[in-house]
Amino acid sequence: MDPLTLTRPDDWHLHLRDGALLRDVLPHTARQFARAIVMPNLAPPVATCEQAAAYRERILKCLPEGSDFEPLMALYLTPRTTAQEIERAAASDFVHGVKLYPAGATTNSEAGLASLEAAHPVFEAMQASGLPLLVHGESTDPACDVFERERVFLEQTLAPLLERFDTLRVVVEHITTRDAVHFVESAAERVAATITPHHLLLNRNALFEGGIRPHHYCLPVLKAEAHRQALVEAATSGSAKFFLGTDSAPHLRSAKEQARGCAGIYSAHAALELYAEAFESAGALDRLEAFASFHGPDFYGLPRNRGRVTLRRERWDVPAIYQAAGAELVPLRAGESVGWKLAGASR
Ligand code: DOR
Ligand code: ZN
Repeated sequence: MDPLTLTRPDDWHLHLRDGALLRDVLPHTARQFARAIVMPNLAPPVATCEQAAAYRERILKCLPEGSDFEPLMALYLTPRTTAQEIERAAASDFVHGVKLYPAGATTNSEAGLASLEAAHPVFEAMQASGLPLLVHGESTDPACDVFERERVFLEQTLAPLLERFDTLRVVVEHITTRDAVHFVESAAERVAATITPHHLLLNRNALFEGGIRPHHYCLPVLKAEAHRQALVEAATSGSAKFFLGTDSAPHLRSAKEQARGCAGIYSAHAALELYAEAFESAGALDRLEAFASFHGPDFYGLPRNRGRVTLRRERWDVPAIYQAAGAELVPLRAGESVGWKLAGASR
């Protein structure tokens, strides 16, 4: 199985930011992925089709010459989002989802929803049009234990929502627990999930190895080993409900190494290679292609890519930092190595 050739993959959950940081991180994604769902949690949020169209243009302008990378846009669901805006989004050819951030759950989520009640007309419009809801699934109850937030959100918020809107299509983003795996597996076909490389490769010990490790801090936070194993089983199971979404979330080093460091792990520099490591450890390299390249487009109703990418089993050193936006960005595996290397991509 060496080298490994796959249909060109897509990233179904990605943070690209804006301005100089966008310009400096985008090439990492564009060299391996054909498309990505671009998260709308800018400040201010990307909440309307007009804002999404403008953001999409800014992304296209930053692409390396000759790249055919296609940004797939998502709208940020705010208390002001209207059913009309959802209809516009569904009729557009560039908005592919609507992101639900519980207010206060994560980076730039202040514009999100404190309660779902008021958004019921929006969910109606989404289920009528088939536009999927992309969910950051964590309870924001301050009394809720940080490791329980995902499970509690699924039980208390998402389960009733799926019952009330019984044809709403939902992607539970970046799942981190065995509970989420079971939730998605036992839900209807209209419910799927993305899984990140860091949640497949790391457990919560990685937050404290040799001292506190801000570059391993993300939300939802890393979980215990049993949960990591459940995620690996789900990703490598062949189930079409699970697909690749890196949640690569760049924050400058200065913002991570702080008394209150930002949540987010930057993985775009080595995303596919890191997934290959995780699948290889599980003895499931033959399942990587469907997870990375088939299940996502099938769920979103988009064509699978036609090009190919080739990975070689070759160890390479990840830089300790990348220069980004005139400052430093610390990637996942900084100063360490990755056992697979992207050797080529075709259209
Ligand atoms: O770790 C995270 N970083 N989780 C999120 O939900 C948001 C993201 C970001 O935007 O930095
Ligand atoms: Zn994210």
